[in-house]
Amino acid sequence: MSRRALLLVLASAAAAAGCKGYRTQGFKEPMKLGGKTISASVLTDGQIAYVLHCRACHGDKGDGKGPAAAGVRPPPRDFTLGSFKFGAVPGGTLPNDDDFLRIVRFGLHGTAMRAWDGVPEPNLLAIIQYLKTFSERWRDEEPGEPIVPTPDPWQGKDAAAVDRGRAVYHALAQCLGCHPAFAPKRYIYEATKQVKGKGTTKFRQDMYGSELTKSEYGVKLLPPDFTRTDLRSVRPEHQLEDLYRVIVSGVGGTAMPTWRGALPEEDLWALVHFVDSLVKIKGTDAPRRLRAEWQADDAVWSPPPK
Ligand code: HEC
Ligand code: HEC
Repeated sequence: MSRRALLLVLASAAAAAGCKGYRTQGFKEPMKLGGKTISASVLTDGQIAYVLHCRACHGDKGDGKGPAAAGVRPPPRDFTLGSFKFGAVPGGTLPNDDDFLRIVRFGLHGTAMRAWDGVPEPNLLAIIQYLKTFSERWRDEEPGEPIVPTPDPWQGKDAAAVDRGRAVYHALAQCLGCHPAFAPKRYIYEATKQVKGKGTTKFRQDMYGSELTKSEYGVKLLPPDFTRTDLRSVRPEHQLEDLYRVIVSGVGGTAMPTWRGALPEEDLWALVHFVDSLVKIKGTDAPRRLRAEWQADDAVWSPPPK
């Protein structure tokens, strides 16, 4: 028996033990997915490898309801939605295969989705094609245009980048509408006055915490506090590049918008350096100390009279 036939038998056995209605017969016809024609044999290989590695959470039907999915938060992705969070594409468009390779190889930090670094690349690419069969979207649409990081204009000027990024974060890009503020009211007032000519005096009630937001995934999501939470898709050894990707692309299917074209490259990179400076103090006592300082300042500050 060939290795492939053996795997098919194993996969059928696994499926028979689990769930009815499972497509064990493999694929007879090629399919057009994301604008490319995928052969029946690649799809069948992908199905076999999917059953071995991914089905437990993502389910036989790709709906995220596998036998190991109960109670998992955030829940395993429902591939029938055709929505993805971490592609390097403008938020809401379909990811490219390179995105899937990066996401699946590294895993998603702080979730049940671990790093699949042991699955050989051809198998992984076949799984990726197979998971596209779960949603109609891949039959009609092509992936979004890849977002490639531009050269970092702040190289060697990290402190200046962080300063500019702090102003962009709190005044220009309104990141603090969802994520925590990382500066006191006095600073936010001055920064908005500088960029908009009028200082803001409106602040969220709990501005040093995150605001719960809606998503397409059936759960509400808490935007991360960069000084506390593991970022899902940011690989420590590619931190700046990955922060650029996620900030510019946005997070698909969630409230986090794409910033592509909305800010000049210099400001996008300044945001990257500012968020990077916050990630770097995670695990130290700096976040708590700084927050106490900001709150003490807020207690004595009031907006200047008009
Ligand atoms: C132990 C459970 C588990 C297993 C096994 C698992 N995943 Fe996941 N996967 C998750 C969870 C949980 C998420 C959602 C994370 C989130 O929403 O932030 C996810 C999300 C994803 C996403 C969406 C990424 C995005 O940008 O939205 C893809 C693609 C994915 N998994 C592929 C795979 C593949 C391929 C396999 C098998 C090689 C696999 N997963 C195995 C739990 C699992
Ligand atoms: C309308 C709400 C909203 C705004 C505005 C917003 N975000 Fe987000 N952001 C989110 C949500 C929600 C998530 C979490 C998605 C998830 O849990 O998968 C997120 C996630 C992130 C992440 C983490 C990605 C990862 O891999 O885990 C970064 C970094 C980030 N945002 C940066 C920013 C920056 C910088 C700005 C301002 C330019 C900003 N966000 C504006 C809602 C928002």
